[in-house]
Amino acid sequence: MPDNAPGPAAAVLCGLAGWVPPRVVTNEELAERLDTDDAWIRTRTGIRRRHVIEPGQATSDLAVEAGCRALRSAGADSVDAVIVTTTTPDRPCPATAPTVAARLGLAGAAAFDVGAVCTGFVYGLATAAGLITSGVAGRVLLIGADAYSTIVDPLDRANAIIFGDGAGAVVLRAGHADEPGAVGRFDLGSDGAHEDLITVAAGGSRQRSTGDEVRRGDRHFAMRGNEVYRHAVTRTAESARTVLRTAGWTIDDVDRFVPHQANLRILHSVTDDLGLPRERCVANVDSVGNTGAASIPLALADAAARQTLRPGDRLLLTAFGGGLTWGSCLLTWPEMAVHTGPEPAPHTHPHDRGEETAS
Ligand code: UT7
Repeated sequence: MPDNAPGPAAAVLCGLAGWVPPRVVTNEELAERLDTDDAWIRTRTGIRRRHVIEPGQATSDLAVEAGCRALRSAGADSVDAVIVTTTTPDRPCPATAPTVAARLGLAGAAAFDVGAVCTGFVYGLATAAGLITSGVAGRVLLIGADAYSTIVDPLDRANAIIFGDGAGAVVLRAGHADEPGAVGRFDLGSDGAHEDLITVAAGGSRQRSTGDEVRRGDRHFAMRGNEVYRHAVTRTAESARTVLRTAGWTIDDVDRFVPHQANLRILHSVTDDLGLPRERCVANVDSVGNTGAASIPLALADAAARQTLRPGDRLLLTAFGGGLTWGSCLLTWPEMAVHTGPEPAPHTHPHDRGEETAS
């Protein structure tokens, strides 16, 4: 290969946006209806508030908002494929992605959903990269969108405090592995022996085929939080180490660690375990809660808008979720058009000024 030949084919990040619905739910508001308080929530999770959709809204509404801003960020008016990764699809059938594609004016593009619970965004990135490097697609819109408020029991204090609604989206184009923004290496894994740790029992073929009446609680999200917590810390750190090893990176090569925003204590435990200074860990869980498949692109969009992510930064993305599933990805942050909107008032978060976090 001549010296100036491009590197191997890769999917390159070229657009990014995050969006959360305007309605804010503070810890104090939750404490009015649940046996909990702001201090407990902040100490155990690091969360101060989260955003939720209005009655009548659905995941596709979040996905469309983030998707159109990501397309604008990429300067793209067409893509070959739209992937929506979500645990809260608009309905079991059909997938949410074709609806989102049509509403974005992208009818005709391939469109499908990816389900990997909170690991969905990393799985979706790997899927998008596969479509691009195999030559099936030249440009892909990947949206992580979840509306957990539609599946969490509002009276379940353990879960109602953690989750928030939101969407984050990226656009990927065909390029080369040595370009900034090229995604990969990846580490992806699962362990279905622990499928019962995070579940929504009703709505799928298993319960329907028994013919039993659906119990009210089975429609709700259930999580054995304490056990999940332990798995999250160990599996996330293991996956991060694996992807670093396969890429020949050391932990010192990581400028920004962007983990799934599950709980600030988990983020800090993993950061410490990896031997990374905590200031390299990107965290916005305090203001959006755990937004499932949206959490990594929302954290990226927030950090880009705040300019704590800079072109050339080497990033380690790591996620963990139901399944159990986990995944990690490495990339170098590219130059990208980031629209931060009007200047924030002192001490306000971008979400206070509207819903656009970056585009
Ligand atoms: O995103 C996918 C992956 N998800 C995660 O990674 C989430 C992982 N898990 C967690 O983040 C934490 O386990 C929770 C935040 C869900 C719970 O925190 P914890 O420190 O693990 O609490 P715990 O479940 O061990 O409960 C401790 C106590 C219990 O009371 P007793 O039995 O000791 O009397 C709970 O009933 O805290 C109680 N509790 C609460 N108290 C006040 C549980 N939720 C609340 C609450 N307010 N909201």
